[in-house]
Amino acid sequence: MDALDRVAKAYGQQSSEEIAIVEDAAQAIGAEWNGRGAGSLGVTAAFSFYPTKNLSAYGDAGIVTTSRPEMAEHMRRLRNHGSPRRYYHDEFGWNGRMDAIQAAVLRVKMTHIASWNERRRHHAATYDQLFAESGLLAAQKSNGCAPVRLLARNLKAQHVFHQYVIRAQRRDDLRTFLAERKISTEIYYPLPLHLQPVFSYLGFKAGDLPVAEHAAQEVLALPMFPELSEAEIRSVVEGIKDFYS
Ligand SMILES: Cc1ncc(COP(=O)(O)O)c(C=O)c1O
Repeated sequence: MDALDRVAKAYGQQSSEEIAIVEDAAQAIGAEWNGRGAGSLGVTAAFSFYPTKNLSAYGDAGIVTTSRPEMAEHMRRLRNHGSPRRYYHDEFGWNGRMDAIQAAVLRVKMTHIASWNERRRHHAATYDQLFAESGLLAAQKSNGCAPVRLLARNLKAQHVFHQYVIRAQRRDDLRTFLAERKISTEIYYPLPLHLQPVFSYLGFKAGDLPVAEHAAQEVLALPMFPELSEAEIRSVVEGIKDFYS
């Protein structure tokens, strides 16, 4: 975010038009960068409360945040067919109101999100420690590669671990092996954006963005949710160790 801020400021000054940073904070509720909460880092931010998120509704829901009153006012209008008061329309908007039932569920769950996030952080620390002790992070003599790599973290960041993601050699075989032990994992995401059919008109081909493509072949999200037990985390790491032994 610091780097993006610098770019936005520098180009904003050059062009004398503001470059607005819009945050995709979909699953970052409770996360912080350098003491500032996700959702307050740009001009505006979107959060998702889709049922799989850290803070989840009973169906689809989401919110937008901004610290600019005029923008807040505008967004309130837009979500309600561009209507500032009933049956009067200043502009085109859409039906983007949150269902009351979703709001009711979220209002209750909201009071738990800090402790749920804390538990996720605790589970992540347990994974970190067990991986460090497992020997899986050390380069193997056979190919000079570590079977598992953990993702880099920054001390300025307060993570909320919507996912606990590792990078794994022979990832797809590992995933099948874990599935046979009833350990479910997920791949976020198997196909990078530039190779998605929807973006084919941009003309990218395989090999154009090797970092993203490499990540898509290696990433594996391990079980992560507040109610996870230490025994379950141990069995996941044991399973991964068994695969590589
Ligand atoms: C980073 C990110 N942005 C946006 C979205 C979309 O959220 P929604 O499905 O609520 O529109 C998701 C959901 O998976 C996401 O992970």
